Amino acid sequence: MIQIAENTYYVGVNDRHKALFEGLWPLPNGVSYNSYLIVDEKVCLVDAVEIDFFAQFIEHIREVIGDRPVDYLVVNHMEPDHSGALALLRKYYPGIQVVGNAKTLDLLHGFYSDKYGEVKVKDGDALELGRHTLRFFLTPMVHWPETMMTLDTATGTLYSGDAFGCFGALNGGLIDSEINCEWVWLEMVRYYSNIVGKYGTPVQSALKKLAGETITSICSTHGPVWREYAAKVVGMYDKMSRYDADNGLVICYGTMYGNTERMAEAIARAASAAGVKNIVMYNVSKTHHSYILRDIFRYRGLIVGAPTYNAGLYHEMDVLLGEVAERQMKGRLLGWFGSYSWAGKAVAKIGEWNDKRLHFEVVGEPVEMKQGFSETVRKQCYGLGHAMAMRLV
Ligand code: FEO
Repeated sequence: MIQIAENTYYVGVNDRHKALFEGLWPLPNGVSYNSYLIVDEKVCLVDAVEIDFFAQFIEHIREVIGDRPVDYLVVNHMEPDHSGALALLRKYYPGIQVVGNAKTLDLLHGFYSDKYGEVKVKDGDALELGRHTLRFFLTPMVHWPETMMTLDTATGTLYSGDAFGCFGALNGGLIDSEINCEWVWLEMVRYYSNIVGKYGTPVQSALKKLAGETITSICSTHGPVWREYAAKVVGMYDKMSRYDADNGLVICYGTMYGNTERMAEAIARAASAAGVKNIVMYNVSKTHHSYILRDIFRYRGLIVGAPTYNAGLYHEMDVLLGEVAERQMKGRLLGWFGSYSWAGKAVAKIGEWNDKRLHFEVVGEPVEMKQGFSETVRKQCYGLGHAMAMRLV
């Protein structure tokens, strides 16, 4: 039994089975589905877990309350990693009432084709549990339309849904001060960039809505409980949702036989020689886009390059640029390069991506290579790397 505040317990679970979150994003170190239990005159669960983990979940709940029933389940976010256990919860607790806003309830009905005892809440509504009072803040599109946050005004605990969450299972420790959080920061950026990254404006609105509240702990649905680092994670979300980034450079490329890769190496060398210290390089076919997106959120400079393939852009680069465009990022500096064997398309296609979807500021001259690497191409690549460096140092 893990107590996190007065009459408040952690009853979540770890998932070290799943390979890909949402079928898309790698989970090398698993993920936690966090759920919290407030035991007062009324017993209230805040968020639930994925259905596969129900056995552990109910055991955690019963460890705290024994045979006492659960009166409420607050659904801050109904994505099935948090609401999947609902049908089974109702079998244990037939009287449980689901607390959600109009969109939450609509989604629940659609996903689970069922009717529940329901408490429909609006922005600013409160629910009395006894000593604890829950206040609800609707924070739509962080990152689904129904997302909301719940503040327990008795303990200053903010239940934030996915916001401030991260990939990675919890290895025994739950509260940030109990664990070495060094592994968390990159996984939080990866989670944000992969899952929430498109929704910078709604995240900003949510942060403004919560700005005046007294918050002592932040309980996300994934990852540690934030107490010591609560201000840090709020600052991280503020920065990421403004698409602000550090001065550094992501170079990512596709390559079939290593020729295009040599262009990337020359660009990186020039950028480094001109003083850029933070340079990360990825072969876009080898490193999952999840990690590349993370670093594009971290760094202001981006140089991409790929071969021509089927009279178009190398597929993996095309997919990556689509993922970047979907996130509607701002404030990035973009350079690019490409190659071809008999008919050049890649460079033009990357240019089209930027004109039509990315709208990043162009830095340097795009470099196009026909067939093999040459001294002429090397000099052009040095020029591109140097031009980018001049904007980053
Ligand atoms: Fe953790 Fe958006 O579900």
